[in-house]
Amino acid sequence: MLKLENVSKRYARGNVRAVDGLTLEVRGGEVFGFIGPNGAGKTTTIKLVTGILTPDEGTVTVGGAPLDKDPIAAKRMVGYVPDAQDAYDRLTGLEYLNFMCDMYGVSSADRAARITSLSERFELAAALNGIVKGYSRGMRQKLALIGALAHNPPLWILDEPMVGLDPRAAHVIKRQMRAHCAAGNTVFFSTHVLDVAERLCDRIGILQKGKLIAVGTLDELRSGETGASLEKVFLELTGDEAAGDWDE
Ligand SMILES: Nc1ncnc2c1ncn2[C@@H]1O[C@H](COP(=O)(O)OP(=O)(O)O)[C@@H](O)[C@H]1O
Ligand SMILES: [Mg+2]
Repeated sequence: MLKLENVSKRYARGNVRAVDGLTLEVRGGEVFGFIGPNGAGKTTTIKLVTGILTPDEGTVTVGGAPLDKDPIAAKRMVGYVPDAQDAYDRLTGLEYLNFMCDMYGVSSADRAARITSLSERFELAAALNGIVKGYSRGMRQKLALIGALAHNPPLWILDEPMVGLDPRAAHVIKRQMRAHCAAGNTVFFSTHVLDVAERLCDRIGILQKGKLIAVGTLDELRSGETGASLEKVFLELTGDEAAGDWDE
C-alpha cells in the first residue's frame, strides 16, 4: 500500500539527514506503527509520504501510484492527520468537515451519512455546530481525524495521534484505527508511546537517526525472547545512547 525506496531528506538548516536511506513497505490491511525517540525522523518521513516535503533521493509509491509522477492519484488514496491542529478556528466543526468533503470530492449524496456516522463513532456529533476555536485539544484531534476519513481513504496516516488526549478520547481513536483496518484499509501512524504501538499494531518499524533499525511483528522484534515488552526490545536494539534520548 505504501512503499519507500531508499528515501533521504536533509534540511537546509542544520546539516543532519533527518531521513537517511529509508526503505519500508506498509502492507495493505495492516496497522503499521512507526516508533522512535524524538528527533528520529518520524514526522519528516510522514511529510515525505504525504507530499508536503520532496525527498532528496529515493521514491515514494502510494497504492501503486508514484508520488512524484502521479501526485494527485497518490494523494487521493491518503487521509492525513498532522501532529498539531491549529487552523480553521473560525469555522464550526460541520463547516470544516464540509470543506474537507469539498476538497476530496465527496458527493453531497454521500456526505451527510458519512459525517453523521463518523461523528457518532468518534463521539463528536453533539459538538459539530460549535466553533472550532472553543474545542478542546481532544475534540480538535477528533475533528481532524474525521476530516481525514471523510473520503474513506484506503490509507490513513497519523502523526502522533494520541498526544495530549484524555484516556477516553485515546481509546476511541485507537478503536477507530483498528476499525478502519478491519474494513479493509491500511493505517500508518507514528508514536513515541511504546505500549500504544505494542497493543495496536500488526507490525512495527523502529526508526533511529533517520534509519530503520528494525521492522516486523512484535514477536519478530523479540527474536526469541518470549514475552519481552516492546520497551525492552527497543532499548536493546538501540543501545544506551538512544535510551538516554528517550522522552517519556
Ligand atoms: N524544519 C526543520 N528544519 C531543520 N531541521 C528539522 C526541521 N524539522 C525537523 N528537523 C530535524 O530533523 C530531525 C528529525 O525530526 P522529526 O522528523 O521531526 O523527528 P520525529 O518526528 O521523529 O521527532 C531532527 O533532528 C530535527 O531537529
Ligand atoms: Mg514528530
